[in-house]
Amino acid sequence: SANTDSLLTGQVLHFDGNPFEQGQQAAKVERRGAVLIRDGKILDSGATERLVAEYPTAQRVDYGDHLILPGFVDAHVHYPQTGIIASWGKRLIDWLNSYTFPEEMRFADRSYADEIAERYLDLTLSHGTTTMASYCTIHPESVDAFFTAAQQRGQRVIAGKTCMDRDTAPAGLRDTAQSAYDDSKALLDRWHGVDRLSYAITPRFSPTSTPEQLRALGALWGEHPEVLMQTHLSEQVDEIEWVKSLYPGARDYLDTYEAYGLLRPGGLFGHAIHLEPRERDRLREVEAALIHCPTSNTFIGSGLFDMDGLSRAGHRIGLATDTGGGSSFSMLRTMASAYEVAQLRHRPLHAAELLYLATAGSAHALRMGDKIGNITPGMEADLVVLDLASTPDIAQRASQADDIWEAVFPTLMMGDDRAIHSVWINGSCRKAVD
Ligand code: GUN
Ligand code: ZN
Repeated sequence: SANTDSLLTGQVLHFDGNPFEQGQQAAKVERRGAVLIRDGKILDSGATERLVAEYPTAQRVDYGDHLILPGFVDAHVHYPQTGIIASWGKRLIDWLNSYTFPEEMRFADRSYADEIAERYLDLTLSHGTTTMASYCTIHPESVDAFFTAAQQRGQRVIAGKTCMDRDTAPAGLRDTAQSAYDDSKALLDRWHGVDRLSYAITPRFSPTSTPEQLRALGALWGEHPEVLMQTHLSEQVDEIEWVKSLYPGARDYLDTYEAYGLLRPGGLFGHAIHLEPRERDRLREVEAALIHCPTSNTFIGSGLFDMDGLSRAGHRIGLATDTGGGSSFSMLRTMASAYEVAQLRHRPLHAAELLYLATAGSAHALRMGDKIGNITPGMEADLVVLDLASTPDIAQRASQADDIWEAVFPTLMMGDDRAIHSVWINGSCRKAVD
């Protein structure tokens, strides 16, 4: 109601369109801007002068020259890998066996899952991430732990039980085709659409599933086409060879999903680096989303995502940390890494494009672009307030900026959690630095 309105003032960023299609002018910054929040939603935004006059009883929070933007949306993470982030020296398959699988086994213990879910959400809050799509482990309790923690914080999150039933995964970390179907269905029924929580059907990737399991999960998705499906695709060259040997009849890696009902709108394919032309065409046709995880791709040594070619072809593309294959919880660090990967392919991404990927672009990839990822009336009030001079090294560069993009770019390249001045989730301030 009007007497609990919050009026945030500062520089305000929003998107009128997609900067990959319309150029940087699709991103607009109001120098003396304001956002009016009522009942957890953005009711109005625009020039400070107008909003101050129209909402005289609102609680004013003045952020000065700080930049108010949509909360960051991390489109692919593994919250259970929080404790093993930054593990040294392995490539994908050895990294999974050496670090990831032993850690994921610990999530059979609900109290450990609760502890890590809380820790993960605390860490990502400090980095300004308000929504994420997370893998859990094969244990249904790991899903309950994550959704319970996010629900208490009023966060919009997506999560699902990771499914693995093949002997390529270790004993102790395997389900079956039937139990994966049953457990996923029970979790979907329990959580999907409750408050701001959404379920995603989550086969880890085709090397750790039997065809029977992929078929069972494809059937479940057919029964619930309203939910998302998240998995991994063509991350490393060795992995693609492995998939070929495990699925000798498949035309390519994507076909191992397609053949079992796991290629539809609402599919989220993590990494998608080494794609064949047929795979690109089919992903584009069904409007599945590709999730770019740059710090992971350099850290695990996977390869360079083709942002230029895929965005030109009109793919839905999200941006993600891929914690803990990725080496950071921060979407600022992830934007810097996306910039560097794109530079290695000779296509510098503009600050407006980077910020789009980290907010509206990821929200669009998650099919939540009508709810989060932008600052326009009707959107849910998940916001980040960026200090564009958070450290001396950033401040000295930003002070010489000629325009807003030059003022923001040093924070995208060099900023960390000190640049995240405040975070609003569902209309409430959850992080505030003074
Ligand atoms: N492929 C299958 N599982 C994983 C995972 O946990 N992390 C990454 N980076 N790739 C994967
Ligand atoms: Zn992943």
